[in-house]
Order: sequence, then structure tokens, then C-alpha cells
Amino acid sequence: MTQQFDLVIRGGTIATAADIFEADIGISDGRITALAADLPRGTDEIDATGKLVLPGGVDAHCHFDQPTSDGSKMADDFDSGPRSAAFGGTTTVIPFACQQKGQSLRAAVDDYHRRAEGKSVIDYAFHLIVTDPTPQVLGQELPALIREGYTSFKIYTTYDDLKLNDREIIEVLALAKREGALTMIHAENSDAIAWLTEALEKAGQTAPRHHADARPAIAEREATHRAISLAEIVDVPMLVVHVSGGEAMEQIAHARSKGLKVFAETCPQYILLTADDLNLDGFEGAKHICSPPPRDSASQRSVWRGLANGTFQVFSSDHAPFRFDDPQGKKVRGDGASFTHVPNGIPGVETRLALLFSEGVGKGRISLNRFVALTATNPARLYGLYPRKGTIAVGADADLAIWNTTREVTITNDALHHNVDYTPYEGRRVTGWPETVLSRGEVVVQGGTLEAKPGRGAFLECGAPDTQL
Ligand code: URP
Ligand code: ZN
Ligand code: ZN
Repeated sequence: MTQQFDLVIRGGTIATAADIFEADIGISDGRITALAADLPRGTDEIDATGKLVLPGGVDAHCHFDQPTSDGSKMADDFDSGPRSAAFGGTTTVIPFACQQKGQSLRAAVDDYHRRAEGKSVIDYAFHLIVTDPTPQVLGQELPALIREGYTSFKIYTTYDDLKLNDREIIEVLALAKREGALTMIHAENSDAIAWLTEALEKAGQTAPRHHADARPAIAEREATHRAISLAEIVDVPMLVVHVSGGEAMEQIAHARSKGLKVFAETCPQYILLTADDLNLDGFEGAKHICSPPPRDSASQRSVWRGLANGTFQVFSSDHAPFRFDDPQGKKVRGDGASFTHVPNGIPGVETRLALLFSEGVGKGRISLNRFVALTATNPARLYGLYPRKGTIAVGADADLAIWNTTREVTITNDALHHNVDYTPYEGRRVTGWPETVLSRGEVVVQGGTLEAKPGRGAFLECGAPDTQL
């Protein structure tokens, strides 16, 4: 008896992290059930002739509706954030359930589920952010949460309301080792930043561009080196998030050359922006305030090398959606406030894939297989979602993006679907865009239109991190 498919995607060129081949994709009950030439007709059909079919992106670092402590508010919630992601070819997002100091981690997770409930159009998992590793958190809450499918968490070496000291970092890393979780670390030297910031403020140097002076690459390098050393002492894998350039990369590459399981993530802002973008007229530079800050063109070249040579395993957006012209956004302390009072972070969940595809694959800097690995397969593996997510294989969820590789798009904020009032990439031209996006076999985006209902996205429990990359 011939197999009946709910949907057949016919005639496309499929790329995974390992292969590129021509095949039809048969989909039943939301999963890929066949990959072969000339599959029989499905109930529905999509003609992908001349198109590239890729795994839907996995954006493993984005912030939606995350509570803040300075009066600012994130502009994207679990409705607009995942929708924007889907329009950019991403089918799984992993934002952060952030513990406030003094709060139980369980309460933070419960609160974040309430924020997400019934809103997301694509599937989502949570990372945790551990800011208060009390005996209760380390002894009960975190081990229990890891077993329930929250198998990765971020810790900080900077920001007074988030940072851990070295002893706390060691305790948390030791727990990650015991329980089989993956620690993600934001590495910048807090005291050095505080000292530099104070000096800049005393000198009246508070314009947005001085954010980059207050957070130099050396401060990132030192904290990266320290974090790697602590992970080496504990003997546990660790991933360094949003790495900005060569200084920190050298520490990571050195650790990896010694055989340490140190993984690294970078983001679009570190290949496309520089510190000069913080020096726009008036307060406009605030649009590009993020931490670590974008560096210089030599750093961009280093990051490209790291994307190509395997120093980086993951390319995420670090979408942190603060509106520019808004008293709950970048202007929370008013137009022209000191850089110290500007919420950190820039948007990019919708533009992540097209920017890397166009600048990376299109310009020959990375291979198509590497693009898939960085944007989908590796994050799915590291965060325990593979092979359900992040690849095209029989048995995997039919999370797919069908790309028109020759389509030229000029990025404008008007055409994006996030709730932020700017994009750092306004006017940038890209070649290649994901035109049809499917989540578990259901068309979510087609020809610039949302075809699926918000709330259909499912929460994903993550399995054990696969650190054999
Ligand atoms: O400046 C940034 N990166 N903001 C988002 C939060 C974080 O540290 O990733
Ligand atoms: Zn961070
Ligand atoms: Zn972030």
C-alpha cells in the first residue's frame, strides 16, 4: 500500500548541516515521514522547484516579555516575538525565564509560562537565568527544573542585579555537571566596567558612544578567560554567549585546542555593526547599545573567521526588544540620558537568518551546511532538542523554511513584524529570504502573510545537552 502524506514538499533542494540533496519531503501528523524522489501525491502539495529547503531556524538566544528592573519594558511578548521570528524563517525560539534576586527560580518559571501561555505561533523552550543561587535553588529547585526539561541556564558576570561572584559561578557549574545541564555565561568584568564607567561619568562622557568605552574587549577577554578557567576546574562543558570579537575568541579557541568543552555563540551585531554605530547624531546611537558592544572591522573579520572555522557553534539573535522613541524603551530615563541608563540590547529575531545567509553563504564566507549548523542544528543539539528540531530527517518535526535564494530584499523596519520601532539594519540589502515557513507541517508564513493562529506553538521540554560537537 502506498503511503498517504498530509503534505508533500516537492522538487526542492534540501540542505542539512551535513548534506545537500534533491528530494521530495513527505509529511504526516506534523513529522517528516519520507525523503525520496517522486513521492506519491499528498493531500496538500507545495512546489519547491528551484527553491532551497532548510530546517527552520532555532534561535537559542532571544528575550521576549522578560521582566526588567529599571522601568523599561520589552516591546515583544510571546505573540509578536515568535511571529517576527517565524517571518524570518525561525521555527523554534528559546527565550529566558529570569530569576529576580530574592525570587524563587520556580516562581520565575511559573510566571514566564503565564506570559507565554496561548500566544506563540511557533514552538518554544525556556532557558533559565540564575541570579540568586541560594541553597534552596541549588539544592532543590534547579535540579528539579533540569529534570523537568529546563536543561540550560544563563549566568552573568556583570550587571548588579544579575551577576554572580566566582564562588557562586563554581557552585552553579558544579551543579550543571552533577545534573547534566549546560551553563551559558555572559562574560564581562563587572568591576572594570564600573571603574571605567565612573571615570567616564566624572568626565561628562555619557553619550551613547561611551557605552563602548566602558565595556572594552579586554573586560570581555578577562571574564571569558576566568569563566573558562572555572569551568576547567569543575571539568564541565560551558557556552559563552554573544562573543563580540577576537580577544574573547582567542580564549575560546585556546581552550578548545586543549580539548576543553567550551562552546561559543555570536550574533548579527558583531558581524555587521561597529562601535561607530553608537556614535550616531544625538541620541540615535542608543539604538545600538548592547553588551558586549559591537567593536571594529578587525573584530568583524575575526568573528567571520570563527564562524567559518568552528570556533563558534551557534549564531543567535540576542533579540532584546526595546523601542527607541519610548519612555519604556531606550528613553526610559529620557532623551539624552547617560548611556548607563539606556536598556541594553538590540532587536534582530526576524533578520538573523537572512543577514547571515546573504553576508555569509551569499558572499562565500561560510558554506551552506555551516549556515544550517550554526542557525539550527547545533543549537538544537546543544540545548537538547535534536533530532526533533534543527534538521531535516525522517522522524523530525516538519519545521521547514523554503528559501528563495535569489530574492533581493531591502530591510526596512516597516516590513518587519516585531514591535520595536527600529531595526539596526535599516536599508541593508540582502539576497535570499525564507518565503514559506512551516512548523510541524503547518504553514505558518506564506508569501508575507501569517497563515497560522497565535497560540498553536507548543512548549518544548529539553533533553540532555549534546556536547559532542
Ligand atoms: O545587551 C544585551 N545583550 N542585552 C540582552 C541581555 C543579554 O545580556 O543578553
Ligand atoms: Zn548577556
Ligand atoms: Zn541576551
